[in-house]
Amino acid sequence: MDHVSKANTVNLENFWMPFTANRQFKAAPRLLAAADGMYYTDVDGNKVLDGTAGLWCCNAGHGRKKISQAVERQLATLDFAPTFQMGHPIAFDFAAKLAEHAPGGPGAKLDRVFFTGSGSESVDTALKIAIAYQRAIGQGTRTRIIGREKGYHGVGFGGISVGGLVNNRRVFPQIPADHMRHTLDVERNAFTKGLPTHGVELADDLERLVQLHGAETIAAVIVEPMSGSAGVILPPKGYLERLRTIADKHGILLIFDEVITGFGRLGTPFGSDYFGVTPDLITTAKGITNGAIPMGAVFAGRKIYDGLMTGPENAIELFHGYTYSGHPVACAAGLATMEIYEEEGLLTRAADLAADWENALHSLKGLPHVVDIRNLGLVGAIELAPRENAPGTRAYDVFVDCFHKGLLIRVTGDIIALSPPLIVEREQIGTIVSMIGDALKRAA
Ligand SMILES: Cc1ncc(COP(=O)(O)O)c(C=O)c1O
Repeated sequence: MDHVSKANTVNLENFWMPFTANRQFKAAPRLLAAADGMYYTDVDGNKVLDGTAGLWCCNAGHGRKKISQAVERQLATLDFAPTFQMGHPIAFDFAAKLAEHAPGGPGAKLDRVFFTGSGSESVDTALKIAIAYQRAIGQGTRTRIIGREKGYHGVGFGGISVGGLVNNRRVFPQIPADHMRHTLDVERNAFTKGLPTHGVELADDLERLVQLHGAETIAAVIVEPMSGSAGVILPPKGYLERLRTIADKHGILLIFDEVITGFGRLGTPFGSDYFGVTPDLITTAKGITNGAIPMGAVFAGRKIYDGLMTGPENAIELFHGYTYSGHPVACAAGLATMEIYEEEGLLTRAADLAADWENALHSLKGLPHVVDIRNLGLVGAIELAPRENAPGTRAYDVFVDCFHKGLLIRVTGDIIALSPPLIVEREQIGTIVSMIGDALKRAA
């Protein structure tokens, strides 16, 4: 008799799963039951090596006792308290801790922190702050936001409007936005190690959109310094610097969406540090609590914060916030997470591993179907040629195959995306890459 997975004994009917082919999944489910360090364990007791830090969020690996103990203590002490016209010390403490790591030089640090509950909320918050700031400084006609094709900024109405992934957009109405072209250019840049050499001129799209719409209608431009969700798209050398220059020239705020690149993914605390470009606002989530408790945060410079601290002192300056902004339990998880990052040097560990990671990934060049390999910090992508008339199915098959062999990878279309926890050992990098290599050789 065939072995029956415990996954088939769970009632799967009621949970409407996000970003999932519900019917396909429920017919052949993959269920995780536990996690520790670099490994998940599925419901049948099989170990699964985590090649994706969950969903780009468990940077310090799984099952961190310091975090669970902090959460337990906080829950028993103060489970919830409002932050509207009220406060609790741990929210201020956590904001102060985050401010220590905030990018920006002396006097220009992005050290004002607005808490949210997720990356999507961080994005919508940053867009609203940008528009409100422009109005506060007498630039009330600036309400349009510029995003980029293939950008992913979560699923709020603001985020999908500035995002550039058609499936997330086609069904829903949007706020005023326009888009620069994306920077993926496999033809010119295939198999480049690190940042692509071609494409800096794509930043001039911002100038072109200014000429089209008028600078006085544009509040901000938002980009991921490195796009993760669309399949790891890297900025060409000099691109982000040029975007900064054009934005400054026209009074447009620059927002970096660092939901993925924040907290050590590229080998620096933030992507802004890696690229040496300081934006006006940064959105974060995921690694802020090591994924343990939902949370996000927007980092703003003093120019923005002070610009909004106007009007009578008894007036609310920004009509925006969430019940869970600065949730005490999330703050406790976040503080414990930062302690781990600091103690274990995880905000810079990816820099030590980056060369080995790069070499390991690029050793897959020449395997069946591989048309490009991209890497930066501890992020990697292996792009496969799509099957004729069935885009996405080849990478999906590799994903399912890897899972059953004991490796979690992520796929977007026909791109395999990798982002292991920052605690990954060199030997495990070898394992991840050789398991993918084997799966590629098996793939039809
Ligand atoms: C760059 C970026 N922004 C925003 C989000 C949305 O975050 P969340 O899913 O927490 O709402 C993501 C999620 O992957 C992301 O990668």
